[in-house]
Amino acid sequence: MTDQYAVIGNPISHSKSPRIHAAFASQTGQKLHYDKLLVEPGCLAEAIADFRQQGGKGLNITVPFKNDAFELADSLTERARLAGAVNTLVLNEDGTLHADNTDGIGMVRDLTANHHFNLKGKRILLLGAGGAVQGVLLPLLQQQPAEIVIANRTVAKAEVLCEKFSAYGNLSASSFEALNGKTFDGIINGTAASLQGEVPPLPDNILNKGAWCYDMMYSSEPTAFVRWGEQQGASQSVDGLGMLVEQAAESFSLWRGVQPDTNPVIKLLRAD
Ligand code: ATR
Repeated sequence: MTDQYAVIGNPISHSKSPRIHAAFASQTGQKLHYDKLLVEPGCLAEAIADFRQQGGKGLNITVPFKNDAFELADSLTERARLAGAVNTLVLNEDGTLHADNTDGIGMVRDLTANHHFNLKGKRILLLGAGGAVQGVLLPLLQQQPAEIVIANRTVAKAEVLCEKFSAYGNLSASSFEALNGKTFDGIINGTAASLQGEVPPLPDNILNKGAWCYDMMYSSEPTAFVRWGEQQGASQSVDGLGMLVEQAAESFSLWRGVQPDTNPVIKLLRAD
């Protein structure tokens, strides 16, 4: 029987993951089937058990189940533990669930390998303090930036993240207003503002010469934040389509022990 994989979420019809994993499988010669599963809130454990019965070997987990999956895990990677959320499950033969979060490493790969942005020793501004930001903080800090400032509408949430990750690097919390007069080498948008076509209220002249902007969201049209970066004179202002493909590649390699080539798959999705 072909090994079964799937992504679980709600909604799920829009998910590009089946396409990405099918492309990885054909490129690497791996025999597998990857589906998408719509699951009702509160029914994740049941859905995983059913999937296991049907020969399921691994799952991706997306909104709104990343925290539920974290709770169900029998073992967690350190990055998943600190993220407090998981996007990848390995359904072990002995019935246990191993969990990882590949979002952060996926974003770091997109930033460094695909876009050639340097993080080491740089001043980075991270916008937002929700699950998306918590999910990427450890891999980002492991790149050893000089400083990461987390700016959020609700500053208390940024402060909680700073406390939680203080042992891993130089972090501070800020309101958007208090950014006035500060400058950065790179800005990463992890707020949900882009979904509403909005940009957090950032002061002008916040970008150092050569600074880049990165939106964790992606869209067929440039996002509001990508456009903001262009208007502010960023050296490059890009969306997070590559992050989607890179986090998938990391899951694929965890399941199959083979690292796929992401560039042709990013090109394939960009052409849609
Ligand atoms: P996710 O898991 O996608 O991060 P979340 O936990 O709901 O979702 O967090 C959404 C983030 O986007 C938060 O940082 C939120 O700011 P608050 O913590 O102050 O709510 C931020 N956000 C959402 N809409 C925004 C907007 N219009 N402007 C600025 N920040 C916004």
